Amino acid sequence: MTRAIGHYDIIEQIDSGSMATIYRVRDRRTGREHAIKMLHLDNDEEASERVLREGRAMLGLQHKNIVGVDEVINHMGKPGFVMDYVDGPTLDEWINDTDSTLTTRMALFHGIAEGLHHLHMRGVIHRDLQPANILIQTVDGVLVPRIIDLGLSKHVRDTGITDMHSVFGTLGYIAPEQIKSTATVGHRADIFSLGCILYVLACEAEPFDAESDLKLMDLIVATKYTPPREVVPDLPDSIVRAIVACLEHDPHKRIHHSRWVLRVLQGAPWPQQPTNQTPVPPGRVRGPFVPN
Ligand SMILES: Nc1ncnc2c1ncn2[C@@H]1O[C@H](COP(=O)(O)OP(=O)(O)O)[C@@H](O)[C@H]1O
Ligand SMILES: [Mg+2]
Repeated sequence: MTRAIGHYDIIEQIDSGSMATIYRVRDRRTGREHAIKMLHLDNDEEASERVLREGRAMLGLQHKNIVGVDEVINHMGKPGFVMDYVDGPTLDEWINDTDSTLTTRMALFHGIAEGLHHLHMRGVIHRDLQPANILIQTVDGVLVPRIIDLGLSKHVRDTGITDMHSVFGTLGYIAPEQIKSTATVGHRADIFSLGCILYVLACEAEPFDAESDLKLMDLIVATKYTPPREVVPDLPDSIVRAIVACLEHDPHKRIHHSRWVLRVLQGAPWPQQPTNQTPVPPGRVRGPFVPN
């Protein structure tokens, strides 16, 4: 096994998926720990380009709820990128392993929505927002969610590069229009995924549930999710309204901004009166939703 990637000594391999291996490393020059994501494939220019794109999309992103890229590297012909090392479970692991209150889970949601706001304000669509792509870090005793894996991200300005991997995010969290066609996928596809995450955090159950991927796809295309109050009968009104606003089938009618979702959680009405003006994202929403 490789022991170093350039001046980064490998401490351990964290994960190895179909596309990439993630290492925990230490920078020999500074002593600081990082995570490095290296692509598996050799001599695959298209895949290399995808990883470099992932890295470039993240280079300018700095937000406490996003894992930023410090450096894009090429090691022995393989592309990779260096990022913060986050010591903590993924959101799905955290939900399975932790007894938590709705208040704690809604505070996590607030951070995830703020991280997504940061991406969208910079023209980045994540396209695979799901609990496995959110790490939960504990900073001074406070849980901080951090969005990772912008592998399918695509600057809105870029012309589309289409392949199966970029069409499909993870089943169960992707928007119906993302299943049908990539051409129409805009930032509101991420809002749909955000709604699925809100559902999971509010109900501790997934919105779409089926035995097979094919049935799951049918459910998503028809946008038939289990009504949240069937799972949690006393779920507060504002959470139900925010979920419904995010999981709207038609992206044009779907709530258009993650900060609006936070506003609805705070009691703002949705849908609003129709307007011809381009919707302006609202300002900072103070504090997470706190149930009574
Ligand atoms: N910056 C990081 N710090 C710590 N662990 C990470 C980091 N990035 C990724 N990981 C781990 O590696 C896994 C896969 O990373 P991800 O970027 O989602 O790759 P994939 O494209 O294979 O889904 C994550 O679920 C997480 O456990
Ligand atoms: Mg991932």
